[in-house]
Amino acid sequence: PVTVYPDQHIASRQIAARIANLIRKKQALGETTVLGLATGVTPIGVYAELVRLYKEEGLSFKGVVTFNLDEYYPMKPSAAQSYVTFMKENLFDQIDIDMANVHIPDGTLAPEDIAAFCLDYEQKISAYGGLDLQILGIGRTGHIGFNEPGSAPNSGTRLVTLDDLTRRDASRDFGGKQNVPTKAITMGIGTIFKAREIVLMAWNKKKAFIIKKAVEGEISSDVPATYLQLSENVEFVLDEDAASELT
Ligand code: F6R
Repeated sequence: PVTVYPDQHIASRQIAARIANLIRKKQALGETTVLGLATGVTPIGVYAELVRLYKEEGLSFKGVVTFNLDEYYPMKPSAAQSYVTFMKENLFDQIDIDMANVHIPDGTLAPEDIAAFCLDYEQKISAYGGLDLQILGIGRTGHIGFNEPGSAPNSGTRLVTLDDLTRRDASRDFGGKQNVPTKAITMGIGTIFKAREIVLMAWNKKKAFIIKKAVEGEISSDVPATYLQLSENVEFVLDEDAASELT
């Protein structure tokens, strides 16, 4: 289903409330919540609202387990552009999560260790019982995570090459496209698909064209997000601008 909100702030608060409800419901049952998390500008409002719920409304992240979708490769965790830094600044440093429960692909691996790391990432997710809820943004190439055009629907966590448009879109963060890594480690389409709930969010006119393709276009590896049309557990959460091309 597609849900359109008047603006991204209202939409972000709704998604944060959904995450908080899930965490509270599972805490009441003594169960762990396993969240799949995204970076980029899109989820910032969701994280800000989760921080507010922690600070003002007693939401606790103790016992919550998280797996991030992706990380650039190579990338030092301490670098300003790393997704580790992003997650600490926007969420983890501001809540009571146990950092031992946080998982982000490792941008410092030796090339020969990447395959084993990726297999282990998949196995860790499975060992926790799978992802309860995965949040996603969407790139202008139609990527989810860093599953660029050409990604297989059953793909797992792996090293990928970033699309030129993705590197251009990241160039501001890196002070020029030439400084953007050419590769990343990402959960696969198959990894994402196994989540019990998936929320893809998109805001602004800039995303309207790719949202039209993702929601209404032919299912194809040319636009990896179209695979989400095959899942019963996906909600596309949009603001009016991102939804503006939908028929
Ligand atoms: C980030 C990720 C990417 C982004 C996408 C949109 O972890 O996996 O798929 O969600 O590139 O990025 P923004 O939100 O910056 O437009």
